Amino acid sequence: MNYNKKVLITGGAGFIGSHVVRLFVNKYSNYQIFNLDALTYAGNLENLKDVENASNYSFIKGDITDEAFIEALFEEHNFDSVIHLAAESHVDRSIKDPLAFVKTNVIGTMVLLNAFKSHSGGNYDGKLFYHISTDEVYGTLGDTGLFTEHTPYDPNSPYSASKASSDHFVRAYGETYNLPYVITNCSNNYGQNQFPEKLIPLFINNIINNKALPVYGDGNYTRDWLYVKDHAIAIDLVFHKGKQGETYNIGGFNEWKNIDLVKLLCQQMDVKLGRSEGTSEQLITFVKDRPGHDLRYAIDASKIKTELGWEPSVTFEEGLKKTIDWYLDNGTWLDHVTSGQYQSYYQKQYN
Ligand code: NAD
Ligand code: TYD
Repeated sequence: MNYNKKVLITGGAGFIGSHVVRLFVNKYSNYQIFNLDALTYAGNLENLKDVENASNYSFIKGDITDEAFIEALFEEHNFDSVIHLAAESHVDRSIKDPLAFVKTNVIGTMVLLNAFKSHSGGNYDGKLFYHISTDEVYGTLGDTGLFTEHTPYDPNSPYSASKASSDHFVRAYGETYNLPYVITNCSNNYGQNQFPEKLIPLFINNIINNKALPVYGDGNYTRDWLYVKDHAIAIDLVFHKGKQGETYNIGGFNEWKNIDLVKLLCQQMDVKLGRSEGTSEQLITFVKDRPGHDLRYAIDASKIKTELGWEPSVTFEEGLKKTIDWYLDNGTWLDHVTSGQYQSYYQKQYN
């Protein structure tokens, strides 16, 4: 088969990456999709069972920080485009082990940029480096205002500092070497296949198992939540229609204080599990706050809406119901990812 594009997706076995891989493999039979992933604790090939035998899909196990390996991979495949999602992605882990975040998020991105640059030989026709970033690079908002594409970077956690650094390098390669790039900064995602260390899947898993729901501080922290499949749709759109050298913010227009979100989740879980009203809320436990905890994130997604016509298609109530149903129907997936290493992480983080 002659493909008209060879697309390298990094981190495709993770949460968001697996939704992007699935969308691209199914939608673009004329693209050859390569999924490069180191399969860290957060990467799981079970996320991609339904596409693993597709003829336009290949999985490559490898580490983006391994320079010789990445150079050889680009030499072999001469990718047209990279959609770069591989990262260490959890703020709490970044507080415990910041260097791991510098290695993957900063050095790994640099290694990919260098390979992309050197194997293009200065001819960037039809090429694109698409870097996936986060709204957390903008730091924190007070009670009002929204992050726009012009908000100055002001990261507060080792995670967001490492993502900010990688964004700067991507932009610098654009300015210095004319490398064609686009960056998107997205708000908090939720949905199927998210590793149960992030708020929503962690709390779903704990409610199922009647375990405490550890709300940090007073719970009055605000996040802007987006259904992961809507993020994947936005990535597809920006990949094909986004203007090179531009940044687009992606968000759900959907702000929730943690405590209100947790209460909604508890109510929905009680209904799904046939428990009497108020049962799950009794599991809420206020615990020691996260150091450097950003008060509020909220995205102004009007640029991507006006210029590319994207907006979220799934309401939060709908998305949350679909998410809960998925976790309840996929107990084996949950059992697999929460066995072994997960237990020791949990002990260290919450005890
Ligand atoms: P995730 O932690 O679920 O998945 C990350 C994937 O990257 C995993 O499959 C892991 O195995 C892989 N990986 C990690 N280190 C690697 C390495 N050195 N080499 C190769 N692969 C490696 O993360 P996610 O939530 O899917 O996030 C994906 C991207 O989107 C990240 O860049 C993240 O910063 C960004 N993002 C996430 C959110 C969110 O709410 N989850 C929001 C905005 C942006
Ligand atoms: P999280 O899902 O880790 O995403 P991020 O830190 O990238 O926004 O956390 C979302 C919010 O939930 C954040 O304000 C921290 C809070 N939180 C808790 O209160 N308890 C927890 O156990 C976790 C993991 C998060």
